Amino acid sequence: MASKTPVYAFLICVVQFLHLSAAQNVKGGYWFPDSGIAASDIDSTLFTHLFCAFSDLDNVTYQVTISSANAAQFSQFTNTVQSKNPSVKTLLSIGDLDYEYPLTANDMVNLGTLLDEWRAAADAEAQASGKPRILLTAAVSVGPTVDGLRYPTQSISRSLDWINVMAYDFYGPWTPSMTNAHAALYDPSGRVSGSSGIESWIQAGVSANKLVFGLPFYGRSWQLVNPDNHGLMAPANGPPEGSGEGARGYNQILEFIANNNAPTIYNSTIVADYCYSGTTWIGYDDKQSISTKVSYAKQKGLLGYFAWQVASDANWALSQQAKQAWEE
Ligand SMILES: *[C@@H]1O[C@H](CO)[C@@H](O)[C@H](O)[C@H]1NC(C)=O
Ligand SMILES: *[C@@H]1O[C@H](CO)[C@@H](O)[C@H](O)[C@H]1NC(C)=O
Repeated sequence: MASKTPVYAFLICVVQFLHLSAAQNVKGGYWFPDSGIAASDIDSTLFTHLFCAFSDLDNVTYQVTISSANAAQFSQFTNTVQSKNPSVKTLLSIGDLDYEYPLTANDMVNLGTLLDEWRAAADAEAQASGKPRILLTAAVSVGPTVDGLRYPTQSISRSLDWINVMAYDFYGPWTPSMTNAHAALYDPSGRVSGSSGIESWIQAGVSANKLVFGLPFYGRSWQLVNPDNHGLMAPANGPPEGSGEGARGYNQILEFIANNNAPTIYNSTIVADYCYSGTTWIGYDDKQSISTKVSYAKQKGLLGYFAWQVASDANWALSQQAKQAWEE
């Protein structure tokens, strides 16, 4: 249903030291070492779960490995973030389990087998060690089907604690000719949106309380063909020069707005923001969008939300907004 997204479509994440009584809800966030902030800078009081990204997987030994550059930070991650919030849970994200995407029906069957075997192994480990079972989660595409192939929803339901639904990157450099909100909550024209993705996961049989809604703490930018035609779905020439895939962190977007005195528009119909200046156009989520999405997630009975990624926040404004909207 969605266009190809460049983000990780399937990541297994394993929590360390989880207490089974845990997660009444998930206020999650991803952190990675090159993101621009140290783990010690994370305001972990705003989160219930923090994902440390990414470890690797040795494709010969199948062992989880951590690059030597990251080893020290990863091994300290839990202690570091728990020093400000002792109850925050930490998860290790295994990037090389990245299925982008399972390509065949058989891949999907194998994925289900993997999840079921992994869960059985985690249960057995917990029983043998007397320690709480680790959490198993995965980040998945916005909807339960990818290129016509259905995720193994029964295995997901029975073997994973929850899935992180990546409700963003619907549009980007791979849709170069037109500006668009890359993470709209609603789309009246019936194309992909966060809410339609959630609805289809639920229709596919995964219960709402296994779904965690993805919030992008970044926008996608385009180069306008005509600076005077700067709305949604305006003609564009791909991402602005030098911006790679056009992704910009929320903190960078606020700088762009301030430096250029750029007009900002919130569209409450689709729940998305954009701003523009000259030929640069950026679709993103500001506080109102974040807040509305979190309220949607809560009202829908979802387990919670997660942010990709915490270093892009600006003075924790979006993280605070999300937490507040959930607790309202
Ligand atoms: C393992 O990964 C390396 C590097 O990505 C690749 O060159 C190699 O073909 C892979 N081997 C197997 C058995 O998949
Ligand atoms: C909001 O977005 C929708 C969908 O693109 C569009 O039809 C509508 O005109 C927009 N509203 C405003 C006020 O711009």
